[in-house]
Amino acid sequence: MIQETRVILKNAGQNNPESIEDYMAAGGYEALRKALSIKPAGIIDELLEAGLRGRGGAGFSTGMKQQFTSKGCQDCPQRYVVVNADEGEPGTFKDRVIMEEDPHLYLEGTIIAAYAIQATKGYIYIRGEYTDSIYKTQKAINDAYEKGFLGESIMGSEFDFDVEIKPGAGSYLCGEELTMLESLEGKRGNPRIKPPFPAEKGLFGMPTLVNNVETLANIPVIISRGKDWYRQYGTERSPGTKIFSISGQVNKPGNYEVELGVTLRQLIDDLAGGMKDGKTFKAALLGGAAGTFVDAGMLDEKMTYDNLREKDATLGSGAVIVLAEGDSVYDILQNCLRFFRHESCGKCVPCRVGTSLLVRKGVELRNGNPGKMLMLQEMEKEAELMAQTSLCPLGQSPILPLKSAIRYFAKEL
Ligand SMILES: Cc1cc2nc3c(=O)[nH]c(=O)nc-3n(C[C@H](O)[C@H](O)[C@H](O)COP(=O)(O)O)c2cc1C
Ligand code: SF4
Repeated sequence: MIQETRVILKNAGQNNPESIEDYMAAGGYEALRKALSIKPAGIIDELLEAGLRGRGGAGFSTGMKQQFTSKGCQDCPQRYVVVNADEGEPGTFKDRVIMEEDPHLYLEGTIIAAYAIQATKGYIYIRGEYTDSIYKTQKAINDAYEKGFLGESIMGSEFDFDVEIKPGAGSYLCGEELTMLESLEGKRGNPRIKPPFPAEKGLFGMPTLVNNVETLANIPVIISRGKDWYRQYGTERSPGTKIFSISGQVNKPGNYEVELGVTLRQLIDDLAGGMKDGKTFKAALLGGAAGTFVDAGMLDEKMTYDNLREKDATLGSGAVIVLAEGDSVYDILQNCLRFFRHESCGKCVPCRVGTSLLVRKGVELRNGNPGKMLMLQEMEKEAELMAQTSLCPLGQSPILPLKSAIRYFAKEL
């Protein structure tokens, strides 16, 4: 029977999130003090060796991203840090708990990240509906300025850093890093074509580090306790802990922080109180709408970035939506397809037209089209084509839930 390993959520529910004194009494801002006594490259090395990977979905190495950003465009007068607090992936609600319960933790991580890449300005792009997250983060920013953890000559050093909040306006696509930069520049939320990556040419054309809230919340912990301490958790290639947001047919839905490498069965049975009312597990959608369905055969697989990828599944943002026998995979899949149609920005044809066609064919599937298997194959082919030809990752996403639903539940569909 496993239990939670609270590294990121250690203060959640224990301290008053609006009190910087509480945070400092628990050792808060000591990591920043330590970081400022180390050269910026030393911070990046520590994160590289700790093996921290981005918690926003892609699992990219945080140290490598900092390295690229610190080396990008040496002549540029400015570098930025952008905190991705948009949390738009359906079924994901873990950044919210960090922002509401321990806002100083990720703020401290943001300041350390800025120091590592020598950025002097940061923006925190928070999902507009998260009013409490916005309020508590703003309070944390105000108090950090007062204590000298933000602004000029932070803690008596030569490092200056300012940060402000920008609330999002409800577009899923604006959670994608390059689209977020467009939005921050005051433009419509249309994606940019990669390359160039934000590390080279990001906000206002300057090198920019974009990181998720949970990723940044890991940084003070790694700096204060060290890479070896951190690596005792998780696996060799996916070290540390991860907050999973579990919803659906379980007795105790919620956020659970566990070591990377636990199994889906442990998450459901040991932490989420088991299947609701003793029902039988049927499926889980891992990683949200841009994620993958798995069936009971995956219950004992290790939840790490690499293991799930090898099994054609995703860990993504850590969303786990649980379905029981009797629930309709078709309904959830159709919800995902409708979601993509709604959120498509319409800039490129394959996604603008493709997302509509997928929804329409999905409806025909239910309405008793005689060639159902043919229809499914057609939908898969179309989603593959979208993945190859769409401009940005949104158009490349419908294939993930669709293909995995067909793989495990073709008969039902
Ligand atoms: C359509 C779309 C929406 C996304 N939404 C979010 C989001 O809400 N929050 C987030 O952290 N990352 C989101 N991402 C991933 C970001 O583009 C990016 O990978 C992430 O902010 C990088 O931070 P990390 O390295 O700390 O994970 C989204 C990506 C796509 C394609
Ligand atoms: S793939 Fe979709 S969301 Fe992305 S640019 Fe094209 S239309 Fe817009």
